[in-house]
Amino acid sequence: MSLLEKFERYPLTYGKTPIDHLPRLTAALGGKVEIYAKREDCNSGLAMGGNKLRKLEYIVPDVIASGADTLVSIGGVQSNHTRMVAATAAKIGMKCVVVQEKWVPHFDAVYDRVGNILMTRLMGADSRLVEDGFDIGIRESWENAMQSVRDAGGKPYGIPAGASVHKYGALGYIGFAEEVAEQEAELGFKFDYIVVCVVTGSTQAGMIVGFKDQGRADRVIGIDASGTVDQTRAQVTDISRKTAELVGLGQDITEDDIVINPDYAYPAYGVPSDETNDAIRLAAQTEAMMTDPVYEGKSMQGMIDLTRKGFFPEGSRVLYAHLGGAPALNGYSYYYKDG
Ligand SMILES: Cc1ncc(COP(=O)(O)O)c(C=O)c1O
Repeated sequence: MSLLEKFERYPLTYGKTPIDHLPRLTAALGGKVEIYAKREDCNSGLAMGGNKLRKLEYIVPDVIASGADTLVSIGGVQSNHTRMVAATAAKIGMKCVVVQEKWVPHFDAVYDRVGNILMTRLMGADSRLVEDGFDIGIRESWENAMQSVRDAGGKPYGIPAGASVHKYGALGYIGFAEEVAEQEAELGFKFDYIVVCVVTGSTQAGMIVGFKDQGRADRVIGIDASGTVDQTRAQVTDISRKTAELVGLGQDITEDDIVINPDYAYPAYGVPSDETNDAIRLAAQTEAMMTDPVYEGKSMQGMIDLTRKGFFPEGSRVLYAHLGGAPALNGYSYYYKDG
């Protein structure tokens, strides 16, 4: 039985996301570990989709019930999350204010014009650029934006960074774990590991709760892209425990259930290393699969490096959760001017 039965869901996605086998990437990594990807990046027709929509599907019923007229959220300049909140607001006919902080020390001339922020503005969101730096916690600039909506006579509904520190923020990724189990039954085999990028935490936290129910939470390998792994780990722990309680999991989430590898976030959040860029190129050139320099490029780098190092035993099947994010590539064009 689904852990999500008692929760209302407002559909924003197409439904089950496809699982692709990646034979050329598998071969490029030596062929001893079979690589697959679950394509969360292809999950919706709303503004190019991505992981946030799975989370927002369980938040929107609460938004509607609250009687709010404006969604208020926060992220970096090239935030995928604020793009997805803007998309959700457009789709459900609400106004939207998003605060975009200077999370990334990156200076492409068009960084604040292209990709995510371009689409956010096109969808009618009031996008406010501020100077504050990276932090996954609750922010003063977000509280100020909420107040500005109230001052103008509106009724705001606040969605924190990454929709993570929200009571329902991790439910969507319990759904992911349940979906994987259904797809495994159709495929006739089980995945040995799931690799996922982690920053604000509710994607991995939801997976941990969902896979814990299947006895395999520790097979979810989080690859940190925040560069502030202690804060991210604390947030994943807190969200997964609260969510386990909320859904009535009936088991405690232990330290061993939470696996986060900090080795690939360097040099900083939002800044790709040479190895990240090599991973982005390898996925693109073997499978035409686009990953970005902020999130998925780092988890791709992690999966590639762990495979090459023999972390996954020979014969393992590894499922890479592709969470989206490719629009941000446009803000990093200088790195890729020669491919
Ligand atoms: C493309 C992409 N991948 C990974 C993540 C990390 O997910 P989470 O913030 O739920 O840890 C995000 C959002 O932060 C994202 O936009």
